[in-house]
Amino acid sequence: MSEQATQPEQVRKGLEGVVAGETSISDVDGHRCQLIYRGYHIDELIGRASYEEVGYLLLFGALPTRAQLAEWTTQLESQRAMDPPLTAFLQTLPKAAGPMATLRSLVSLMGVLDPSENDTSLESIKRKAVRTIAVIPTLVAAIGRHRAGQPLLSPTPGVGQAATFLYLLHGKEPTPLQARALDAYFILLADHGFNASTFTARTVTGTQSDYYSAITAAVGSLKGPLHGAANRKAMEMLTEIGSVEQIEHYVQRTLADHKRFMGFGHRVYKGADPRAKHLKEIAKRLGESVGETRWFDISERLQEAVWQAKKLYINVDFYSASLLHYLGIPTELFTTMFACARMVGWSAHVLEQAADNRLIRPLALYIGPRELKFVPLDHRK
Ligand code: SDX
Repeated sequence: MSEQATQPEQVRKGLEGVVAGETSISDVDGHRCQLIYRGYHIDELIGRASYEEVGYLLLFGALPTRAQLAEWTTQLESQRAMDPPLTAFLQTLPKAAGPMATLRSLVSLMGVLDPSENDTSLESIKRKAVRTIAVIPTLVAAIGRHRAGQPLLSPTPGVGQAATFLYLLHGKEPTPLQARALDAYFILLADHGFNASTFTARTVTGTQSDYYSAITAAVGSLKGPLHGAANRKAMEMLTEIGSVEQIEHYVQRTLADHKRFMGFGHRVYKGADPRAKHLKEIAKRLGESVGETRWFDISERLQEAVWQAKKLYINVDFYSASLLHYLGIPTELFTTMFACARMVGWSAHVLEQAADNRLIRPLALYIGPRELKFVPLDHRK
C-alpha cells in the first residue's frame, strides 16, 4: 500500500466508524446500546459490585475473590497519600488554576519523580497504574481544597475509594447514600472502549512511551468540551436555564443559534446511552435526599424538550451534572471526577496496548498543492 491514501472516499473524518483495534476490556455496542465490562453488562454490576471490584475486573480481567479483593483494597489504601513534592507543587499554584490543567501537571510530575518512569515492562506499568488509581481521588480532592483555600486532609484507612474522596473534599464522612452514589458513578464511567481520551492513551503507549505520558495525554484529551468537560458544561447549562419555566426558551434559542446541548448526543450510541438511566435514578435519589430536586427537575424536563425538538438522546454527562452537584462537588471539579473514574479504564488500555503493541499510525489524504517551484526570497511578492 502507498504511504498515503489517494481517494477521498478512503477518508473517515474523526475515524468515525473505523475499527482501529481489538480489546477485551469493554464493548460499547452502539446499535444494541449496551456497555459490557469484560463480559458483564453494566446492569449486572451496578448495585451489586463495588468500584474496587469493577476496577479489579477491568484491570486484571476477572472479578476478584474475597482474598484478592482484600489484597487489592489494601494496595489501594496504602498508596492513597500524596507524595510531598506533589503537595508542595500544588501549593505553589494560584487558586484559580484550572483543575484539569492542574491534574494533568500533577500526573506528569508523578512521572518526573518516578525513577522507573521509562520502564515499560508490564509489571512496571501495573505498579504505576495501581499507584495512580489509588492516589487520583486524593489529588482531585486536594485540588478542590486548594481552590477553596482549605487545608489538605489525609486519607483514612478502611474506607472505599468513593467515600475517601468525599471525606477528603468535604472534611466529613459521607452518608451511605452519598458514598454509594459516587461509587456507582465511578463504576459507570470507569471504561468505554476507544473513546478519545482512551485512544489517546493507547496511541502514546503505541510508541513505547511511558505510562505517565499516556495518562497525561489522556487527561488532556478528556479536558475538551466534546468529551469529558461536557459534564461541567451541562451543569452550566442547567444553571443558565435556572427554572423549568425557562426550558422552552433555552431550547429554541439554542436551536436558533445552532449551538450544542451539553450532555446530549454520542458518536457511537444510536439510541440511549446505557449508563444514563442509572445516573438519572441516582441523581433523582440524591436530589430527594437533600430536599432540593430543582436541578433534577430541570434536567428531566430538558431531556424531554430536546427529544421533542431534535430527537437527541442524553449521554453519560447529562445526569452526571446534577448527580455531582448534589454530592456538593464544585462544578469546576466535574471533569476531574470523570478522570477519577476513567483512570482505571485508561490504565487497563495502556496495559492491553503494551502487551500486544503495534505503533498506531493512520494514513492521511494530502489535499495541499503539488509541483511548486522554489522562489528566492527577494522575488517573493
Ligand atoms: C463523552 O466516545 C465516548 O465513548 C465518549 C464518552 C465516554 O464515556 O468516554 O461517552 C463520554 O464524551 C460523551 C459525549 C460528551 N459530549 C457532549 O455531550 C457534547 C455535546 N455532544 C456533541 O457535541 C456530539 O454529540 C458528540 C461530540 C458527542 C458526538 O458528535 P458526532 O458523532 O461528531 O456528531 P456530529 O457532531 O456530527 O452531530 C451529528 C448531528 C449534527 O446535526 P447536523 O448538523 O448534521 O444537522 O447531530 C447534531 C449535530 O448538530 N448533534 C447535536 C448534538 N450532538 C449532535 N445537536 C445539538 N446538541 C448536541 N449535543
